[in-house]
Amino acid sequence: MASETMWFWLVHLLLQVFTVRGKVPAIIVFGDSSVDSGNNNHVSTVLKSNFAPYGRDFYDGKPTGRFSNGRIPTDFISEAFGNKPIVPAYLDPTYDIKDFATGVCFASAGTGYDNATSDVLSVIPLWKELEYYKEYQEKLRGYLGKERANEVLEEALYLISIGTNDFLENYYIFPGRSSQFSVAEYQNFLVQIARNFVSELHHLGARRISLSGLPPMGCLPLERTTNIFFGSECIEEYNNVAKDFNEKLKGMVTDLNKEVAGIKLVLSNPFDILSQIIENPSSFGFEDATKACCGTGLFEMSYMCNKRNPFTCFDANKYVFWDSFHPTERTNQLVADYVVKNCLAQFM
Ligand SMILES: *[C@@H]1O[C@H](CO)[C@@H](O)[C@H](O)[C@H]1NC(C)=O
Repeated sequence: MASETMWFWLVHLLLQVFTVRGKVPAIIVFGDSSVDSGNNNHVSTVLKSNFAPYGRDFYDGKPTGRFSNGRIPTDFISEAFGNKPIVPAYLDPTYDIKDFATGVCFASAGTGYDNATSDVLSVIPLWKELEYYKEYQEKLRGYLGKERANEVLEEALYLISIGTNDFLENYYIFPGRSSQFSVAEYQNFLVQIARNFVSELHHLGARRISLSGLPPMGCLPLERTTNIFFGSECIEEYNNVAKDFNEKLKGMVTDLNKEVAGIKLVLSNPFDILSQIIENPSSFGFEDATKACCGTGLFEMSYMCNKRNPFTCFDANKYVFWDSFHPTERTNQLVADYVVKNCLAQFM
């Protein structure tokens, strides 16, 4: 009996040590609409989602500027790490450094690795997200003291999710980059920017960094709609571009882990789990993976997805996609669970 009690306490103690040691003090997010929690509300752009029916399944049914009916993957990841269930947007004046000390989001919908991509819809370029991060570092040092702040910045988990818009909003739409680069060259150009960004982040004190791969972007409802006379199939070319890009990112991640002392960089690749969901929606409890919930589901997003649209679905949980470009909260949760388990577990 006595030894049983001792074992109990020993295990209990070990678990505690493990939890405390493994704890990530803050989640720090960079990227595009896949992870923007409301920064675009405070930017002069037409790419917004801070109105109904966006957010209708969020806390209090509040539209926050997240491009979904509810939470986005970074919210779920933050929660899985024992932090807040939402990651607040840096430009939202209702939050301050007290809130941002455990989680902050610099992402901006519509942005990309390429400066030319953020120009398309006048959103925050990636380099500017990093400028905001530097400003945040100073505020955090003012709030926590230099030593503790540097500790938090070093132990924080950095999540970067970006790149889809470089292809779908820029390369394949405008002649600029596509006349300058072949697709393969453009991929290399973007991977180099990703590499510089991660290196700079490391230089500024970050250690645990997750870089997200691209989704099967040819299966986004908006892209399928351009294929409407061919059965609304996924655009295989775009899916292959995403796959190739992810392979290149993976190579870069492997290289940086070898070259940069102390960095722990992982590729969080949502491609496979999303492909499985899209190919076999019913086995994940979905009824529709081709059309989105909002509006006709064929093309609506941002201001086109609004509460005057009579076609919006009743139960978003039955849909893989919320608007023509973004997943529902349920899909976001499945992706986050997958990423936490398969890519981020080492940071827990
Ligand atoms: C993007 O723009 C910023 C600010 O002008 C500049 O510092 C940076 O070098 C540019 N990035 C690329 C890849 O051209």
